Amino acid sequence: MTDHDRLRFGGPTVRETWVEAPRREFLTPVAPDVRIRTERLVLRPLQYGDEAAFFEAWASEEWSSLLLSLPMNPAEVTAWVRRNVEEPDPFFLRLVAETVADGTVVGDVILILGGTGLTEGEIGWTIVPGQGGHGYATEAARAVLEIAFEHYGLRRVVANLDARNDRSAALCERLGMRRESHRIGDFWSKGRWTDSLDYALLADEWRAGRGR
Ligand SMILES: CC(C)(COP(=O)(O)OP(=O)(O)OC[C@H]1O[C@@H](n2cnc3c(N)ncnc32)[C@H](O)[C@@H]1OP(=O)(O)O)[C@@H](O)C(=O)NCCC(=O)NCCS
Repeated sequence: MTDHDRLRFGGPTVRETWVEAPRREFLTPVAPDVRIRTERLVLRPLQYGDEAAFFEAWASEEWSSLLLSLPMNPAEVTAWVRRNVEEPDPFFLRLVAETVADGTVVGDVILILGGTGLTEGEIGWTIVPGQGGHGYATEAARAVLEIAFEHYGLRRVVANLDARNDRSAALCERLGMRRESHRIGDFWSKGRWTDSLDYALLADEWRAGRGR
């Protein structure tokens, strides 16, 4: 059954039956140490009490305009935090970045594990309004790339972004990621088709010092 068949008939796809299900049974990843210290940041799981740090960001249509997700009101952010705390997904790592100096939450970085045999991850990031332009996303993403390659043993990490997201593309470049494609009009976002960019970095490239 293909994805298209599922839309018509329901039920699991061939990939879900033969790839995803055995993978969940036999290859469930183990989360890394939950607190990671970088030069200026501590990375840790989302926790109760973080809600307020994300209210302004998620309320803003402008801030979320280049994300696939829609804006969220405070009640939705509260539910989002609760879901993350109470239903952690071993295939979806979300680490919040807070400053070492005073514990201010500056954003988060995610890593979604996938690919046959769990060999690939997709990285993503947000920095809340007022905290951009300090290199926090770069610092946090470097730490997550290290987790991706050295803890999870991934072979390849990708980033997929709205092609209008210049700051995110610049971040990929700072991380040493390679732009592999610019897809025209393939991204349905907020009621319109837009272009998307794919970036990638291999473990060998990371170990050779790219993006550090
Ligand atoms: C995408 C996003 C995370 C990028 O944030 P950012 O602030 O540009 O990225 P960084 O935190 O790495 O900061 C980089 C900037 O800090 C500067 N900087 C200062 N100190 C630095 C340091 N120690 N190291 C690296 N950069 C530093 C860099 O020169 C750069 O500035 P510039 O943009 O003027 O060239 C942010 O714009 C965002 O959250 N947007 C909304 C949500 C979103 O679109 N997410 C991505 C979806 S794909």
